[in-house]
Amino acid sequence: MSEIDVKLLEIRQDFPVLNRLVYGKPLVYLDNAATTQKPKCVISAISDYYLNYNSNIHRGVHRLSQEATDEYEKSRKFIKEFINANTASEIIFTRGTTEGINLVAHSFVRPRLKEGDEILITHMEHHSNIVPWQIVCEETGAQLRVVPINDAGELIFEEYEKMLTDKVKFVSVVYVSNSLGTINPIEEIIKKAHSKGIPVLVDAAQSIQHIKIDVRKLGCDFLVFSGHKIYGPTGIGVLYGKQIYLEKMSPYQGGGDMIKSVSFERTIYNDLPYKFEAGTPNIEGAIGLGKAIEYVSQIGFDFIIEHETQLLKYAQDKLSEIDGLKIIGNAARKASVVSFVLDNVHPHDVGTMLDVDGIAVRTGHHCTEPIMRRFEVPATTRASFAFYNTKQEIDVLAQSIQKVIKMFS
Ligand SMILES: Cc1ncc(COP(=O)(O)O)c(C=O)c1O
Repeated sequence: MSEIDVKLLEIRQDFPVLNRLVYGKPLVYLDNAATTQKPKCVISAISDYYLNYNSNIHRGVHRLSQEATDEYEKSRKFIKEFINANTASEIIFTRGTTEGINLVAHSFVRPRLKEGDEILITHMEHHSNIVPWQIVCEETGAQLRVVPINDAGELIFEEYEKMLTDKVKFVSVVYVSNSLGTINPIEEIIKKAHSKGIPVLVDAAQSIQHIKIDVRKLGCDFLVFSGHKIYGPTGIGVLYGKQIYLEKMSPYQGGGDMIKSVSFERTIYNDLPYKFEAGTPNIEGAIGLGKAIEYVSQIGFDFIIEHETQLLKYAQDKLSEIDGLKIIGNAARKASVVSFVLDNVHPHDVGTMLDVDGIAVRTGHHCTEPIMRRFEVPATTRASFAFYNTKQEIDVLAQSIQKVIKMFS
């Protein structure tokens, strides 16, 4: 057994669900871009909270409340270290990527927009990074402009440069495309926008789990991600924002925790980060996310990047050999996502047949309908890999696809 196989065996023991059978076959979980599986330490951290110190945070003087508050704030500090933010005040807990983008759209961008201004996104955005901007544009008379992509699924940088006119007030861009796997040249994108004084939000939903992110090095003004895509719980996410911006922004929601004092005449808002955390937050989610991030840090990005790069190459080579299979998204720089279509077989039929072999993939438009139209396909089948996946699982996928082709021919 190679060193990597031994390590993988060990890692897979951390994820109980990977040992289960589906229709009597070993589960092959290749739907990691939709959500990742959770290691035991995350599951234990959540149950430990409920078993031993379930309590509301920040407001209590009793022991349980103090313990819960400590763990919640400890997670914030882990996340601050993980993405190298300047201070823990720049880490806002949200419900996920979608809420983070909506928060920035409504609290930062909308008050700064007037008719005729422009917001720039790319053709490869998830609906969560399209619709919030359409809403603020509708409300303000601003225009949403879309940077085109080429046939490989890469951003056309020269077009981006041309479109960065004085009218553009904000750029919001995905780091890694969830349906194509394309890794965007995010540092250059940010640098170019900043050279014109335009702030940038990075949608890191599909990059936080694959690429070591350093927000200070990137220089981004905002960055958002979801806990469930980085081995943490659902219903929790993070908005990173530069303190100078967060301080100037109005709260997104009003209620408990985001106030210092309330009277009928006047409310004084709380300091950062609490100003943006109205109401009782997802306490166990934040604690679980902190644990997930600690776990990922222990696995280490050296291993994650090396193994996932190998998985991607192996999968692309293996699937490209299959007659009648076409990969959608062939960027030079890709994360471990392979989207494909088969001649004469609808992706939903592919997904249903793979399921019978215990293989979990995603089929559909992956919340990126404009990309489907760009590549003139109704949907794709998407296999997305995590660091716990193996080459043997890709072999199972390839064999099962051959069976689908045979069945439909
Ligand atoms: C690139 C990208 N952005 C945004 C989202 C939305 O994430 P969530 O549904 O966790 O808010 C996703 C989810 O798949 C995504 O892949």
